[in-house]
Amino acid sequence: MALAISFSFLLVFLSPISSSHPQNLQFIFEGFNRKEANLTTKGASIISSGLLRITNLSENVIGQTFYRKPIKMLTPNSNTSSSSSSGPTASSFSTHFVFAIVSPTPGRGGFGIAFTISPSTNFPKAEAGHYLGLFYSGNDGNRLNHIFAVEFDTVNGLNENSDSKGNHVGININSMVSNASKPAGYVKEGSVSNEEDLDLESGDLIQAWVDYDGKNKIINVTVAPIRVEKRPSTPLLSIGYDLSDVLLENMFVGFSSSTGKKSSYHYLSGWSFSINGPAPPLNLSKLPAPPKQENSSSFKLSTKVLIASLSVIIVSLFVILFCLTLYKRIMPFERLEDWELDCPHRFCYKDLYTATKGFKDTEVIGVGGFGAVYKGVSPSTGCEVAVKKITRSCQEGMKEFAAEIESLGRLRHKNLVNLQGWCKKKNHLLIVYDYIPYGSLDSLIFHPKNDFVLGWEQRFNILRGVASGLLYLHEEWEQVVLHRDVKSSNVLIDSDMNARLGDFGLARLHDHGEMSHTTGVVGTIGYIAPELARIGKASTSTDVFAYGALLLEVATGRRPIGPEHFVLVDWVMECYHLGRLMSAVDLNLGLGFVVEEMELVLKLGLLCSHYKPEARPSMRQVIRHLNGEEEIPEIDHWGLFDSQSVNHFHSRFMQGLSSDKITSYRSSSLGAISYASLDAGR
Ligand SMILES: *[C@@H]1O[C@H](CO)[C@@H](O)[C@H](O)[C@H]1NC(C)=O
Ligand SMILES: *[C@@H]1O[C@H](CO)[C@@H](O)[C@H](O)[C@H]1NC(C)=O
Ligand SMILES: *[C@@H]1O[C@H](CO)[C@@H](O)[C@H](O)[C@H]1NC(C)=O
Ligand SMILES: *[C@@H]1O[C@H](CO)[C@@H](O)[C@H](O)[C@H]1NC(C)=O
Ligand SMILES: *[C@@H]1O[C@H](CO)[C@@H](O)[C@H](O)[C@H]1NC(C)=O
Ligand SMILES: *[C@@H]1O[C@H](CO)[C@@H](O)[C@H](O)[C@H]1NC(C)=O
Ligand SMILES: *[C@@H]1O[C@H](CO)[C@@H](O)[C@H](O)[C@H]1NC(C)=O
Repeated sequence: MALAISFSFLLVFLSPISSSHPQNLQFIFEGFNRKEANLTTKGASIISSGLLRITNLSENVIGQTFYRKPIKMLTPNSNTSSSSSSGPTASSFSTHFVFAIVSPTPGRGGFGIAFTISPSTNFPKAEAGHYLGLFYSGNDGNRLNHIFAVEFDTVNGLNENSDSKGNHVGININSMVSNASKPAGYVKEGSVSNEEDLDLESGDLIQAWVDYDGKNKIINVTVAPIRVEKRPSTPLLSIGYDLSDVLLENMFVGFSSSTGKKSSYHYLSGWSFSINGPAPPLNLSKLPAPPKQENSSSFKLSTKVLIASLSVIIVSLFVILFCLTLYKRIMPFERLEDWELDCPHRFCYKDLYTATKGFKDTEVIGVGGFGAVYKGVSPSTGCEVAVKKITRSCQEGMKEFAAEIESLGRLRHKNLVNLQGWCKKKNHLLIVYDYIPYGSLDSLIFHPKNDFVLGWEQRFNILRGVASGLLYLHEEWEQVVLHRDVKSSNVLIDSDMNARLGDFGLARLHDHGEMSHTTGVVGTIGYIAPELARIGKASTSTDVFAYGALLLEVATGRRPIGPEHFVLVDWVMECYHLGRLMSAVDLNLGLGFVVEEMELVLKLGLLCSHYKPEARPSMRQVIRHLNGEEEIPEIDHWGLFDSQSVNHFHSRFMQGLSSDKITSYRSSSLGAISYASLDAGR
């Protein structure tokens, strides 16, 4: 690689000796040969890339390189008529060189590099550091030194405090105290006076020109970065000075550099020199570039990069944390617990809040035993949904509750109101259902609009639908689901006049989290089976009992329990015993019903309302009866069932209601007196 890098060395002597004419000498180095025969070096060395390294990073070292032969710097005075005092004068000279100062850390390097013209290549006692290997305190400023130097200093000059930046160029004569100095800079071509700062320590190649006009006695010093192809026309330093007294006949030209407590690599990349003529321009593209990173500095750099990236990561983490905290403050909607995260049916509170317009009262489409139901538009599907808002007294059991809702969410049947999902927010529980536009069976029978009468065919179809839905819950799904609150207001009618059973399984939720009672009886008066009221045990037969009450209700158009201790079952049973079963039929129907079906429904209603749970049919049997696949046994053969025992039960139950034992009693806003939801134990 070293040898591949092009270097060239030209040495041209033109008319080497001439007494009358000024001598012309010029040489050019574009990169340096490893075995450079025409240079003397001290402390300096030529490195593989073709650079001449004047100093390394060691502290307090001096490095020097000089052109091997002395150069005649004086011109005999040709003005014969001049006064006796005039001796030989300093010749014009011109030099162009390219150097680089590479510091381990920018701004921390030292000390500098100096283009030097001196009578000798030996500088006895010369010191490193500020003295740049040229002077020492004992000879600094002595006229006998005969040393001319242009210093490129990266540390404040000796005894100089003015240039606090240290980054300066100075013209020194016999002394380290500069005759003229200026912070490094150059005037950009095209701009009149705008001086660009130049960082000598940047590690990049820097060009410099030193010109002495022997006739007009002017010293010009110019610097520019390597990227400036053309030499700036305005020099950085231009002073009038006669070097005739300073320079001697034979002088050595070269460079001296030193480090002190601070150190840099000082490199020379190219150099041309000429007496009595402009220095040959260096072909910049041929010059070797300084190594970008040296060992220790590269380590420091990578450390820096590491530290920087680490701090960036840490700062961004803090920012993210801060934003999250802020977000939670501003949007206090939800904080999810672990178990909530992987529930596919979980809705986002914010979405439901928007869907129901902030649970506005105008969006309420019903008020049930559990709480209000709001209409909304699902943000995900755009479909209409019903959102049931349940407020619970405590948060206990939320997890079990959610698990249950999750599993209920998987139920799918054409006669069920599909549960789409749920959401919890503090003590609020939101359950999202399909929106069923036609409302409940209860309102169609008891509060019809415009004297609308639900026909028998539709009623029979609805009853069959409810039975089908219940059968699915009891027997056809993977586990037994008890509805626990079958009643007309929980039967919703869709646009095809099909029954959709809603709120299934929910009643049990009231058990969870209600601390004291294990026997939480939940249901609606008139639909609660006797054994459920007595021992609080719900089963599929308690659902069948409630379905029986629904059958009678739909057939008769009367509520299961009416004012003044009216009990529908007893009344229908009485009608039956009196042989006038058809007199129980809803008067609104007139004659618009099928007698056989009506009889079937009334009898099935009575059978399902049997006092003994084991006497009631299963839902599968109910469907077989409704389909006419199985005959209903004769009522007289039902055994234990008699109106006396039913009466007995119901009157006891009603007494219980009015006593203080049952403290919570909620009246449905829709219902008449007999129609109520009851949460026993609350
Ligand atoms: C050194 O300079 C002389 C001329 O003085 C030249 O002939 C010689 O080739 C140079 N040496 C090298 C190694 O370039
Ligand atoms: C640096 O250069 C000096 C000579 O100027 C030499 O003595 C020293 O060993 C060098 N240090 C390194 C680390 O190369
Ligand atoms: C020679 O010196 C005289 C007086 O010092 C001066 O007037 C004259 O111009 C000089 N001539 C040249 C060619 O420098
Ligand atoms: C400039 O150099 C001369 C030596 O020739 C010296 O006497 C003089 O004091 C210097 N001027 C400054 C300002 O350093
Ligand atoms: C030195 O600089 C001055 C001012 O820019 C200029 O007029 C003069 O020609 C320059 N002399 C040399 C030898 O470069
Ligand atoms: C500079 O050197 C390159 C090759 O290194 C060469 O192609 C180019 O012509 C040279 N330019 C001049 C002005 O000599
Ligand atoms: C780099 O550092 C290692 C030790 O850390 C040393 O052995 C090696 O010589 C160094 N290389 C250079 C080019 O300075």
